[in-house]
Amino acid sequence: MANGLDDVVAADTVLSDVDGSGGHLTIRGHSLAGLAGRWRYAQVVHLLFDGFFDDLPSDAELEKAIGKARVDVFDRVKPLLTQLAPLDIYSGMRAGMAVLPDGDGLADALRLIAAPAVLTPALLRLGRGETPVAPDEKADHAGDMLRMLAGIASPTLAKALDSYLVTVCDHGLNASTFATRVVASTQAGLTSAILAGLGALKGPLHGGAPGPVIEMLDAIEASGDATAWLRNQIARDERIMGFGHRIYRVRDPRADALKAVVRQLGSRNETGSRLALAETVEQAALEVLRIAKPQRSIQTNVEFYTALLLEAVGFPKEAFSNVFAAGRVAGWIAHAREQQATGRLIRPQSRYVGPVPDLVA
Ligand code: ACO
Repeated sequence: MANGLDDVVAADTVLSDVDGSGGHLTIRGHSLAGLAGRWRYAQVVHLLFDGFFDDLPSDAELEKAIGKARVDVFDRVKPLLTQLAPLDIYSGMRAGMAVLPDGDGLADALRLIAAPAVLTPALLRLGRGETPVAPDEKADHAGDMLRMLAGIASPTLAKALDSYLVTVCDHGLNASTFATRVVASTQAGLTSAILAGLGALKGPLHGGAPGPVIEMLDAIEASGDATAWLRNQIARDERIMGFGHRIYRVRDPRADALKAVVRQLGSRNETGSRLALAETVEQAALEVLRIAKPQRSIQTNVEFYTALLLEAVGFPKEAFSNVFAAGRVAGWIAHAREQQATGRLIRPQSRYVGPVPDLVA
């Protein structure tokens, strides 16, 4: 049975490689460890887009173009914001992105890079009864996202968010990237393809996990007994959020990259006590999972420390998946362009297991 397409290779890609048994992530020839905390998000967008757009400028010029795209997107969505604000924050962002032009050029791609970073703070502010803050095209992408959220952006928090966006920029043929490539293979435009990725990312088995991680940490803190709470979760046949992965059988390398960023922030403020709680919960969860599911190596995934990092830089938990999309959109666009270039429609088969029709005499 083709249940979940495990081990099926559905695309050749130059973009990223996930080594699930070694615990390594390669992004276009660079190890994650070499990129996270060292490269800026705009540089990684350049790395992913290289060869997929004829008019790609230098990475410094690309950063400026992303800034201009934030202003362009803000101007386009501004008249819609009050209608989008009553939706949940993810649906509001997705609906705002749906009105963008559906072309295949670099300008279309940069608007899609800019859109989650613009829409998320604007909708959060409107939800709090505050006026949206317009983008500053000269600011760096992550710093401007925080400035649009809070009015100011500390360079330390901006750097932490930038490291997050880099860490999640691409990750093999995950569910949302596959969905993106399927739509791109029909030669629909980039916006259509990215909307498919957004739909797939939302679910709790994929990019919707970090909000529930915060709820779990809060519930465990209130209960006072991590192991008992986690055992009860397993006894009720519930998943422990932030653990397990379809590909990784060892620790997700992105979890360590993000934990290192959170640790740096933790030495400065109350994030430190949150980190101590998370480390206790992580150790308890790994032990509970080891005993409950001895046949399967279930390890910490990217979402566990995503939750801590995004909380520390100031996002509310209901917006965590939006911020994930703000990073992953770079990978989606590059995959969409790579798929379009093959000129090949993705069209697998299903096996019919339904009832046999009555034969008409
Ligand atoms: N908590 C409890 N049990 C788990 C967990 C978990 N987090 N993850 C896997 N299992 C168990 C399943 O219950 C199942 O047990 P069984 O064989 O006794 O029925 C076994 O492990 C295999 O589970 P599958 O769902 O087949 O494994 P899959 O490879 O599809 O799991 C997934 C991947 C969906 C991410 C899963 O680990 C999960 O639900 N994790 C929690 C949600 C989460 O953290 N999602 C974010 C993933 S990272 C990302 O997408 C960016």
